[in-house]
Amino acid sequence: MSQNIGILTAGGDCPGLNAAIRGIGKAALSIGNINVIGFLDGFRGLMEDRTIRLDGKNLSGILTVGGTILGTSRDKPHRMPIGNKVLDMTDKMMETYEKHHLDVLVCLGGGGTQKNAFRLKEKGMNVITLPKTIDNDVGMTDVTFGFDTALGIATDAIDRLHSTAHSHHRIIVVEIMGHNAGWLALGAGVAGGADVILIPEIPYNLETVAEGIRKRSRHGKRFSIVAVAEGALPTEMAERMRPLQEQKLNAEKKSERQQAKEGIAVLEGELKEHTLQLSHQLEEMTNLEARVTILGHLQRGGTPSAADRLLATRLGTACMDYIQDRHFGVMVASRGEGTEPVPLEDVVGKKKLVPPDHHWVTSARNVGTILGD
Ligand code: F6P
Repeated sequence: MSQNIGILTAGGDCPGLNAAIRGIGKAALSIGNINVIGFLDGFRGLMEDRTIRLDGKNLSGILTVGGTILGTSRDKPHRMPIGNKVLDMTDKMMETYEKHHLDVLVCLGGGGTQKNAFRLKEKGMNVITLPKTIDNDVGMTDVTFGFDTALGIATDAIDRLHSTAHSHHRIIVVEIMGHNAGWLALGAGVAGGADVILIPEIPYNLETVAEGIRKRSRHGKRFSIVAVAEGALPTEMAERMRPLQEQKLNAEKKSERQQAKEGIAVLEGELKEHTLQLSHQLEEMTNLEARVTILGHLQRGGTPSAADRLLATRLGTACMDYIQDRHFGVMVASRGEGTEPVPLEDVVGKKKLVPPDHHWVTSARNVGTILGD
């Protein structure tokens, strides 16, 4: 009997998505008698039943291409903007799933996608997920694809900023993506030899950072590279944020969770342009000229690294093995040299942050990098 597989990509795009789609699709082709379709633009395409066939022709030539040939969106099945309303569209998605007689829906995405796929599983769909994001913050997997490429881009940027910072005797504050996780800023900061690395997991004291830079100047080093994660927090802000995050996590009532979310949104509003503010403050406190570089979406663009292609292909082809075993409701995690099917309920809500004693943190401290604490 033939099998039908649907694939979608959701959340922010990243390099390696096409390699994963190809891995799943080509493994299906080599087994034979399997139809693979792709839904366009994430969960919205599933809801609107917009598809393309993922046959030999569409799967060719995509291994090295960045982004996703399927398109993506940040739509959530249970809270989808439709006209001027926000509606739960999971039933509509179930209709599409049944119409195509799908054996399984494969969702490629980050933390949010794991949650959304879990919701569809609870509705009765067979789902499997793959962990992707440049942030590397999905729990229960060693690593996510997309991260290695972004790490390379951010490291290259820091390398290039060194020569101009050095020539002008400036501070260059470089903002690195990662949402609330510091993996990218820390990894690129250590690999690129940033003088200061600020990450959300280690709140920083502004005076400690400024004094570190002044000390460098006193020792004849008249430039400094500050790698700051987009979610980095000064200590006083972290102290205001912590109780709200705890309330959001532990709230028993919906209203309490909502209140915490609103409080967090207010603080995040105060943190807008945080990197620019930091640069101004450091300029004033050190008497050194400062400039800001925001790497932004450059970090998500372009050709995937060899490591990401290998990882995405490994996870994609392993996904096909789990489908053949009808092992559904799991995320295909990267574990050591292999893979592991982790039940989605064990993945949902497990954001992977940088542990303060991680060896990258220790290495940074050992080479004298200022972490601001
Ligand atoms: O999750 C990936 C990511 O690039 C984060 O690092 C960043 O905070 C966010 O997406 C940006 O989202 P968008 O592309 O929707 O602006």
